[in-house]
Amino acid sequence: MKNILFASSECVPFIKTGGLADVVGSLPKYFDKKKYDVRVVLPKYCCMNQKWKDRLEYVNHFYMNIAGQDQYVGILQYVQDKITFYFIDNEYYFSGFAPYDGDQKWNIEKFAFFSKAVLSILPVIGFRPDLIHCHDWQTGLIPVYLDNFRYLGEYYRGIKTIMTIHNLKFQGVWDTRTVRHITGLPEYYFAPDKLEAYKDANLLKGGIVYADKVTTVSQTYAEEIKTPFFGEGLDGLMSARSNDLCGIVNGLDYSEYCPFKDTRIAKRFTVDTFRKNKVSNKVSLQEELGLEKDSKVMMIGIVSRLTDQKGFDLIDCVMDELCQDAVQIVVLGTGDVKYENMFRHFAWKYSGKVSANIFYSEELSHKIYASSDAFLMPSLFEPCGLSQLMSLRYGTLPIVRETGGLKDTVEPYNEFEKTGTGFSFKNYNAHEMLNTIRYAERIYYDKKRDWNKIVERAMEKDFSWKSSAKQYDELYKSLIGK
Ligand code: ADP
Ligand code: GLC
Repeated sequence: MKNILFASSECVPFIKTGGLADVVGSLPKYFDKKKYDVRVVLPKYCCMNQKWKDRLEYVNHFYMNIAGQDQYVGILQYVQDKITFYFIDNEYYFSGFAPYDGDQKWNIEKFAFFSKAVLSILPVIGFRPDLIHCHDWQTGLIPVYLDNFRYLGEYYRGIKTIMTIHNLKFQGVWDTRTVRHITGLPEYYFAPDKLEAYKDANLLKGGIVYADKVTTVSQTYAEEIKTPFFGEGLDGLMSARSNDLCGIVNGLDYSEYCPFKDTRIAKRFTVDTFRKNKVSNKVSLQEELGLEKDSKVMMIGIVSRLTDQKGFDLIDCVMDELCQDAVQIVVLGTGDVKYENMFRHFAWKYSGKVSANIFYSEELSHKIYASSDAFLMPSLFEPCGLSQLMSLRYGTLPIVRETGGLKDTVEPYNEFEKTGTGFSFKNYNAHEMLNTIRYAERIYYDKKRDWNKIVERAMEKDFSWKSSAKQYDELYKSLIGK
């Protein structure tokens, strides 16, 4: 039996801002329990739902030095689906209204504390991982501290690490002097072949340099990040580590996203009943959101963080043209004020046709995945993307830009070969996107049988964790044996 510890700043069902939480909350369930004891550690945020906070059990506490001060490190735990989740408690760091509340420097200090605490709790909880699986910049210091902790004695020697990059855009960068003070790490680590990048300290870079293996969440993104456009300044490092870098596409928690069991949607459906039942879902969502009631109109859904990454500039550019067509557009998202206001504006201008829901809601997200005919995701870049996988599962055809995981998971419709599960376009160009949407409209309105065949293929695709968990299993085996 091997011990694996996932370290992450987000994890469903406890705390989520994006796909990272979905991945960390679901992947551990898909390993063979006879082979691996997989546990998860995350911060105990005050902003977590009270329901979860009430269930956490106190394990132990101690004090640890960070940023020149002794800080309380509380350990709590909760077991769900036979998986143990540890929560690191410290109200000084984790009391914000959201996980990444506060400025960049504060976040760096917060997650430096978390990373050091993750290693420090191990002897206390009596769980010595053979491997720590780190996720994103917030845990980038773990492999670095682990290297440093080797000098403390036998205990930390031989623990392997994997650094998974969910989004290379976020790296945790601040000036070297401050980061040295916060982390208490020796000067040795702040060199260009270690933590330093472009004269600053870069936490994700530290993780990439010191981890035994580096992964990202799709094969295409694993290639893209070796190029300057997607590399965010680290493309050289990604190329240098290419022997240890691989892309493993994300899976979906099929028990959570399941159109025939979903209790959040008006009418459940399968691949045999979607023709009738998806329409019922659509009409019920139109009623709920105050859209024109029309069972025949093509509904396009968007569920997303509203940031530059997701391609909303393209939508802004052609929205007036698109709204001349027979379509309805339903948006659910929060993020940059400029995009929030952009969608509010279009919802006002095209009321009855466009619905802008500028908030976070699991419930409404499921309804949108279930009710829409198409799902629009024209990302500028996309490490993997889970929303398009959710759409496929609910027979909602993705219209995506061919980048990262979108390219790897959505097969464009080919009307001659009768293949494909969605629609895609190549360039980051608003009219290329609009033409693709209009092509989808033509299939939807004029070739309904073909459209329904695409829906069948989409629903029958398997993006559960089955095959990807197996790839992680192989990777773990290559580092820690059977
Ligand atoms: P990213 O991690 O870049 O945000 P993903 O597609 O991997 O993109 O994952 C996004 C996840 O967040 C999906 O589960 C999606 O349904 C969810 N999500 C995004 N915005 C909202 C929102 N406003 N309300 C509910 N769920 C949301
Ligand atoms: C990031 C990426 C997204 C990916 C998710 C989970 O948030 O933006 O593409 O699906 O992480 O890996």
